[in-house]
Amino acid sequence: MILVTGGTGFIGSHTVVELFEEGMDVLIADNLSNSYADVIDRIEKITGKRPMFEEIDLAKSEKADLLFEKYPNIKAIIHFAASKAVGESVEKPLLYYMNNLNSLMNVLENMKRHSINNIVFSSSCTVYGEPDELPVHEQSPIKIANSPYGNTKQISEEILKDISKISPDMNIISLRYFNPIGAHQSSLIGELPIGIPNNLVPYITQTGYGIREELTVFGDDYNTPDGSAVRDYIDVVDLSRAHIVAIHRLLNNENKKNYEVFNLGTGTGSSVFEVINAFKKASGLKIKYKISGRREGDIEKVWADTSFANKELGWKAETSLEQSLKTAWDWENYYRKNLENK
Ligand code: UFG
Repeated sequence: MILVTGGTGFIGSHTVVELFEEGMDVLIADNLSNSYADVIDRIEKITGKRPMFEEIDLAKSEKADLLFEKYPNIKAIIHFAASKAVGESVEKPLLYYMNNLNSLMNVLENMKRHSINNIVFSSSCTVYGEPDELPVHEQSPIKIANSPYGNTKQISEEILKDISKISPDMNIISLRYFNPIGAHQSSLIGELPIGIPNNLVPYITQTGYGIREELTVFGDDYNTPDGSAVRDYIDVVDLSRAHIVAIHRLLNNENKKNYEVFNLGTGTGSSVFEVINAFKKASGLKIKYKISGRREGDIEKVWADTSFANKELGWKAETSLEQSLKTAWDWENYYRKNLENK
């Protein structure tokens, strides 16, 4: 059985679908702080299988302990559960340190207690900060984090690395995600930001649907070809599939070291204006936008060197930006028409 913490969230839910496609048993643990329980029904609709589910806050040690006592057959863990809004983390640093670090430590403590040796951790390209050289590879320098959220990812990686040094039996993979976008082709699951979206793609799809009046492009004076900031947008289904490869790698002892780190991106950077244009091609809609100043804390450009993940994991992102925007758009429509008011 694979324990997926944060399994009702955006990347978590897509990964649960892929785990089921692989014939694996799945237990989801999620506190539903940023997701809804009916995601489980929709996972069942897609796969014909229903994950086991525990509504639980893993940052509370006594709850985490009970979960692991109740399910003695956990073979590996994918640890997504975390708070992830960069801006909110600046306002509420303690919440972020408590949620993200305590939940990881409670999971690790229980892994030790119950001799569970395999964990995949959700990390982020945020650990690279504003890179000196592009693309960034796994050995690129870790820069000072520009938000408490980013700092929790850096500290989490350090915790995992320290544990790997003293626990040769522990097998750990940190996956550094670039910018996940898109949705499952069934349109039954996707990204569901609560309130006004912080991220570019849900803001675009909501503007396309008429929920937001216009997109604000945060800065057109960056040192990039069209002046807008550049990111590496990776499809959430491609991203989820990398987790399946990582889980197999751990369960089959194919890992070369007991702590490994992989970049999960496409290897291509796209500017905000390029995303707006790709959305026009995907949806037929021209998004209204205005240009404002830069958003505080934003970096200028980052994209991944994916050669290590491509070679070692035998994994590659396959979905184009336009295809991802199409599935994101289909999901926005499906959600508004079928789910929003239920
Ligand atoms: N952007 C806009 N307008 C918007 C929203 C975003 O112009 O309304 C721009 C941003 O300025 C940025 C790009 O679109 O240039 C992407 O912004 P997102 O907020 O979608 O993504 P970020 O790159 O800022 O953040 C993402 C994840 C974080 C992670 C970070 C690492 O959401 O969790 O990547 O760089 F920490």
